[in-house]
Amino acid sequence: MTSPDAAERAWPVAGPEQDLPTRRAQLYDAMGKVNIQALWTQVTDLMPGQPAPRAVPWLWRWDTVLPLAAEAGETVPVGRGGERRVLALANPGLGGLPFATPTLWGAMQYLNAQESAPAHRHTASAIRFVLQGRGVWTTVNGEPCPMSPGDLVLTPSMTWHEHHSGADEPMVWFDGLDLPLVNGLDAGFFEPAGAEYLDTAGPPVESRSAALYGHPGLLPSVRPDTDRHSPLMVYRWEHTARALAEVSAATGSGDTELRFVDPVHGGDAVPTMRCAMRRLAAGLRTPTTRTVGSSIIVVFAGRGRTVIDGMIFSWGPGDTLAVPSWCAVDHEAAETAELFVVSDAPVIEALRLDRTEVRGDHQPVTGTWDG
Ligand SMILES: [Fe+2]
Repeated sequence: MTSPDAAERAWPVAGPEQDLPTRRAQLYDAMGKVNIQALWTQVTDLMPGQPAPRAVPWLWRWDTVLPLAAEAGETVPVGRGGERRVLALANPGLGGLPFATPTLWGAMQYLNAQESAPAHRHTASAIRFVLQGRGVWTTVNGEPCPMSPGDLVLTPSMTWHEHHSGADEPMVWFDGLDLPLVNGLDAGFFEPAGAEYLDTAGPPVESRSAALYGHPGLLPSVRPDTDRHSPLMVYRWEHTARALAEVSAATGSGDTELRFVDPVHGGDAVPTMRCAMRRLAAGLRTPTTRTVGSSIIVVFAGRGRTVIDGMIFSWGPGDTLAVPSWCAVDHEAAETAELFVVSDAPVIEALRLDRTEVRGDHQPVTGTWDG
């Protein structure tokens, strides 16, 4: 509208005398031609009574993933362009997208002995949880971080990172990224480094950030360079294991969960993903709980089962579970189990969408998941 004359302000004149179904069909047709849709025909899908995720509960078995990763190790090189040898865990509810949940990328990365993956950086944050192998280090902004099973290594948003093996065996680690969220927000940037590798120093003894920030209850008086993420780039399994044992003993609880946090600011280690380690005592069955937001569970040790929306998922070491939002979940450990959990909880909480429901009893079991 360019001028407010009377003709332009007038209401449209009623259409010809026709029955309502015909007029509605014509209306929808006319709307569609100018990219307008009716709310009233799809309000239930747009605003369901409770979260209705397209992602489905799923399990990727270590015995299935590892041979595929090893075959990729023999047939697919690592280098500039492909960048990484990564097998994405693709939730079959997400229409072929390579994402484990709507907000989380989950994958297994396989690095051969004496192999290196080139330096790059991106706005998506990544966390690495080591499952098998030794002798690899990840260099984060020039700081080499040795990796061993059970270690958590961060490569936060826009930090340069590369991976190197000085070992005589491959390594496999779990990669968790906020990539679906970052892409959904159209916030994705990626840059290869100018040089293939920024780290030429060889295997390190320990990371500098662990030397500065890896001591319980003690911080250097010099503040870190950034408050966008934890200044500690590697969380050692020996510390995690000791903390799990001591907290379990101190509380007497068979269900112990510890978060990996920024030691300076106290929040999550990266702002978009919550990382935690959960230890369940043998024989324990947790209460049935529903939580807004999705998560990926990586079994580090132990065997047990998880009931999700009535279906039993049996698991063992290296198995990985996708848990969509608002599914009813309870775990039962057949033997002492250690579960690494990454979730989108910091995002859900920042948006004030967090909601959790705990049942007074256990959900009924309706079947056994078999893929
Ligand atoms: Fe990367």
